[in-house]
Formats: sequence, C-alpha cells, structure tokens
Amino acid sequence: MTNAVNVQNIGIVGAGQMGSGIAQVCAQCGYSVSLADISQDVLDKAVTGIGGRLQRLVEKERLTQDALDAAVGNITTKTDYAGFGDCDLVIEAATENEEIKKSIFENLIPALRDDAILATNTSSISITRLAAATDRPERFIGMHFMNPVPVMKLVELSKGIATDEATYSAVNTVVGKLGKTSITSEDFPAFIVNRILVPMMNEAIYVLQEGIGGVTDIDGAMKLGANQPMGPLELADFVGLDTCLAIMQVLYDGFADSKYRPCPLLVKYVEAGWLGRKTGRGFYDYSGDKPVPTR
Ligand code: 3HC
Repeated sequence: MTNAVNVQNIGIVGAGQMGSGIAQVCAQCGYSVSLADISQDVLDKAVTGIGGRLQRLVEKERLTQDALDAAVGNITTKTDYAGFGDCDLVIEAATENEEIKKSIFENLIPALRDDAILATNTSSISITRLAAATDRPERFIGMHFMNPVPVMKLVELSKGIATDEATYSAVNTVVGKLGKTSITSEDFPAFIVNRILVPMMNEAIYVLQEGIGGVTDIDGAMKLGANQPMGPLELADFVGLDTCLAIMQVLYDGFADSKYRPCPLLVKYVEAGWLGRKTGRGFYDYSGDKPVPTR
C-alpha cells in the first residue's frame, strides 16, 4: 500500500552536525523526534548543542522559554531503534559512506512500519542504489539539508527511479512545515548543489596547492569578489574535508570524468586527519580564539 502519510513522528539516524540540526528544526516545528546514534556521547553533545542554540534564540527574544521547553521536550534520544515503529518518516543522516548507510538500513528496517517513509540526507550517493538496498524503494527519497540546517533555507529533494509521488508529496509537505524551500534534482551524482559547489571548493584547493594564492587570498577573493558569505576554503573546513573528498570521489566515479579528480592536497589533509573545524584543523587552525590560516 502506498501512503498518504500525514507525518507527525520523525526518526533521525545520526546525531552529528547534520542530524542534530535536522532534529532541532523538526522539534521546533512541533514534530515528535526520535534521534538515534550508536554513541551516547554524540547524542548528549547533540542535545546540549540544540539546547544552547535555542537558548541563544531565547536571549535574542526570537523564541519564548515555553517554546524552547516544548522543542527540547519533543526530542527523545536512543542508541537503538526502539520506538521507531511510531515514526511516519525516518531521515538517515549518517556519515557519507554507502556501506555504512546500507548497514543502517538493514538494522533499521525491521523496526519500521510498512508504510513509513525512509529518507536519506545523502549529499551525493545514488538514491536509486540506496533505495534498492531497502524493502521500500517506492517510499525512499533523498532529502538533502544544507549546513547549518537551522539557518539554510534549502532542502534538495531527489527521487530514485522507483520513488512514488505520494512519498515525494509527503516529504515536500514536511519541508514546507519546517519553513524551508525545496528544489528537486534528478538522481545523478551529487545532485545540483554539491555538483556545483564541491568542485568549486576542490578547485580552490588546487589554486592553493599550485601556490597561486594563499588561504587568505583565495577566501578573500571569493568573499569580496563573488560575495560568498564564506570563502571556499573556510566553507570546505565547515562542511568537513572528509565529506568534500567523499563527494568528489562520488562525482569522479559516477561520471568517470577527470574534471572531478579530487585535489591531492585535499586527499593529504584527510589522510592527516585534518578534517576542518570538527577536528580543530583544516585550511585554518581553530585552536585559538580566531581561525588562523595554515598556508
Ligand atoms: N547553527 C545554527 N545557527 C547558526 C550557525 C550554526 N552552526 N552558525 C550561525 N548561525 C546563525 C547565527 O546564530 C545567526 O543567527 P541570527 O541572524 O538569527 O542572529 C546567523 O546564523 C548568522 O550568523 P553569524 O552572524 O554568526 O555569522 P555569519 O553572518 O557569518 O553567518 C553562516 C554564518 C550563516 C554560516 C554564513 O557564513 C553562511 O551562510 N555560510 C555559507 C554556508 C553554506 O554555504 N552552507 C552550505 C554548505 S554545503 C552543504 O551544506 C551541503 C553538504 O552536503 C556539503
């Protein structure tokens, strides 16, 4: 049976940067949220982060204390999928790694209702291929949020070859209720946003590698010369250099076109464990009060 699902309960798998942001906006908009992660520590950090961000909104008088309490009260955390049987929609927001996502689906699906919609926040991987690893390709969809989720207005929706209209329509309704705007991309590697954005960041890393400019020159050029809110290297650090590399690899493999080759300097940073803001070092060093360019 295909759904005419009226989404009320949302499950989110993965409580990192994206999952916690998605949990926050869903909870703020009145959805009941089950947030799952294998790590209790990551869940605790996610809840603390959400509470802190909402508290700042209260201080700025953009949110009442009652609304904060209601939003926090809407979130339940779990290290397993107990209770996911109540979810109308589950959004997978784990690491950008196909095998990890498939193994999550394998463990998650037995806990779900047959009519529940399964969405993935993948930023590049084929929706059709991920859907084929589930029992519900017609109720499977790409729902790609942007970082930072509470601020960015866009959600990029992508249907796999089997995704039905009822699924698209139910998920699109959720996007509207979250106060965000959807665009729809065909299911091709990295969709629309990252197909354009991530090669731009990769090119900036080539410019750095070739010594054409330093970090400050490159970011300054694009901030002041192209009105970008963050320069491409600052943005790469913000997104995570491992994520940038994973997306370039999906583009490179998916199109077999050398124009998508990952920059060797990006590979080197990832191999060093310099993944950007989240590890305290990338193209900037974040250990002090202000980020300091490293090249
Ligand atoms: N979480 C929640 N809110 C945040 C935030 C965060 N991590 N960072 C900033 N904000 C909020 C601030 O609270 C502030 O809110 P207010 O206007 O209501 O007071 C607002 O955003 C502006 O913040 P700041 O004044 O501190 O800083 P900026 O003006 O520099 O803006 C920014 C910060 C919104 C992050 C801006 O620099 C920006 O738009 N950067 C580009 C972000 C971008 O391109 N994201 C897409 C990345 S690609 C992607 O996500 C796809 C993925 O698959 C790779």
